[in-house]
This record gives sequence, structure tokens and C-alpha cells, in this order.
Amino acid sequence: MSRGERVLVIGAGGQLGRYLCTELQDAGYDVIGLGHAAGDGIDAAVDISHASAVRDVFADNQPDAVIHAAAYTDVDGCEKNPDRANQVNHLGSKNIAEASTRAGAWLVAIGTDFVFSGESNERYAEDAEVGPISVYGQSKLDGERAVLASGDSFAVARTSWVFGGEGKHFPRTVVSMLQDRGAMSVVDDEVSSPTYAGDLARALVALIPLRPSGVLHLSNEGVVSRYQFAREVARIAGLDPGAVTPTSTAEFLAKYPLLAKRPAFSALANRRAAAMGVRLPAWEDAVSRYIPRMMSTWSPPSVRGQS
Ligand SMILES: NC(=O)c1ccc[n+]([C@@H]2O[C@H](COP(=O)([O-])OP(=O)(O)OC[C@H]3O[C@@H](n4cnc5c(N)ncnc54)[C@H](OP(=O)(O)O)[C@@H]3O)[C@@H](O)[C@H]2O)c1
Repeated sequence: MSRGERVLVIGAGGQLGRYLCTELQDAGYDVIGLGHAAGDGIDAAVDISHASAVRDVFADNQPDAVIHAAAYTDVDGCEKNPDRANQVNHLGSKNIAEASTRAGAWLVAIGTDFVFSGESNERYAEDAEVGPISVYGQSKLDGERAVLASGDSFAVARTSWVFGGEGKHFPRTVVSMLQDRGAMSVVDDEVSSPTYAGDLARALVALIPLRPSGVLHLSNEGVVSRYQFAREVARIAGLDPGAVTPTSTAEFLAKYPLLAKRPAFSALANRRAAAMGVRLPAWEDAVSRYIPRMMSTWSPPSVRGQS
């Protein structure tokens, strides 16, 4: 695959999709952005749960490669609406895989750390046993399996705790809570690897000429609790890290019940991508680049799901 070829980005209006379109354009690819609804930077609207609509958009655009970053990412919403989770995250991914096969295009679909149970205390390798504990995690796992069953050359790139852009994500929540309330409690027993959407997009673009197949893990390096992550965000944003206090998931849920269970530990070991020479920097490095940019254009977050 060479630069100048056509790459379809599905979910182009989402947190990761926006970074993907920019990185691909900068790298010289012919980028077609598909969004759920028409809008800024969206070349065509498609609901991925409609197989015939997906088929039509592929026929219209004839991609060489496809990056599938669309999902129903509202983890608690998925518990309330398992049918929608299945339609979008499972069957939508199947529709995209079948259309990619028909088009002869290489496909990478974005997967999640939420396919794991969280009971490990060692970073999960690509071949580690899966065991989702939420509807979202199960629907994403079903989507992964549909993608991998459709084409021997297709890939799933799992990632974790993604942040970046103008929508709702954890660093924006931290800054907005500290600014509005002056203090916040954050769980110190939920642990993973925060991943900057800009770094993830760059790594995905680097994979295109390599055309890997099977499961890969792509997260920023390093492992941290939500509490430590929040303190580092506060420090770099010029706020008081001491205003962030630790709590446990049990204490937090007693005050603010959530429908979906989250894995306690979901850090990923990025072994396969590293062996191909594709590495994301440490999460602290990502935060030190992203937070000053976020603060320079600060506005209160808009609503978006987050896994
Ligand atoms: N965010 C995280 O922490 C995280 C962690 C691990 C893995 N991931 C995975 O990373 C990928 C990108 O996530 P993200 O953070 O960029 O999520 P996001 O901001 O919620 O973007 C997902 C996009 O998918 C679109 N979408 C939803 N249903 C659709 C449908 N039926 N047809 C077409 N498009 C649809 C959404 O459009 P609407 O908003 O208009 O519905 C949205 O633009 C997803 O596969 C997600 O599962 C995310």
C-alpha cells in the first residue's frame, strides 16, 4: 500500500476519527471520511448497522484500506440498550468487514481493553484470554470476531482510555470538575494506559503499509491509576494536584452508581506493534503535549460516550 491510495475512515466525526483524517491527509493519503450524520469533515453519512447502506458507500468510494473507528461507545448506555450495542458494535463491524472483503480492501477495526475481565495484574498480551464484564465489552468482542472471521488479512487494534479533541474525555472532566468545584475524588483501583488519540492515529497510519492481520494492541506506554492520571492532568493544567483525592471504586459507586462494570485492570502490552517498529510514547509524554493544547483552547466539554 502506498501513499496516494484511498483510505475510508468510518467514524470520522468521533474523537479518534477526527485525528485519523488529519494524520492520513498529512501523510498524503486520499481520505474519505464517513460519519453517522453529515457534518464538518464528513464526506458521506452512513449508519453502519444498515448493511445495504454500508455496501452502497463502499461501492461509491472503492477504498484500498479501511479504518473502522465507529462504535456505540456509551458504556452505560449499552447496558440499557443491548440491542443497539449489538447492532452497531457487532453487526455494524460485520457489515464493514463484508464490504471490505467485497472491495478487496485491507481493514483495521478499533477494539477495546474492555474485552478483558480486569482480573489480571499483568498487562494483557494480544493473545490473552478475553472475558468481557459489560454489554459494551461483549458487543465489541463480537465485532472483533466478526472482523477476524471475514478476512485473513484483517486486523483489530485494541486500545485503552482514549483522550483528545473537543468532546467529553477524562482529562476534560478533571479540569472542568476542578475549575467548577475546586476538588474531586477519583478511583485509585482502576488501572490502565491512557492513550492520546493523536498518537493512536499516527500509529494506525504507520500500520497501513505494513498490512498486519489479527489482533494488535496500541496504547501509550505505561500503567497508571485513574487517580494518578487525574493528578498529572491537574498539575500540567496549572491546577492543584492536591485537590484530587483518592477513593475506591466501591466507595465511588455507592455515591454515584453506574450501570456498567469496568475492568479494574486493563493495561495492554503492545508487543506485536512494537515488533513491527510501531510504538506509542509514554502516557506522561502524551499528556505533557496534549494538556497545554487543550488548555489553550479551553471550553466546557460537550456530551459524548466514553469507554
Ligand atoms: N474512548 C475510549 O476511551 C476508547 C477506549 C478503547 C477503545 N475505544 C474504541 O475506539 C474507537 C473510537 O472511539 P472514540 O473514542 O473515537 O469514540 P466516539 O468519539 O464515540 O466516536 C465514535 C463515532 O462512531 C459514530 N457512530 C456511532 N454509531 C454509529 C452508527 N450506527 N453508524 C455510524 N457511525 C456511528 C459516532 O457518531 P455519533 O456520535 O453521531 O453517534 C461517533 O462519531 C471505538 O471503536 C471505541 O470502541 C475507545
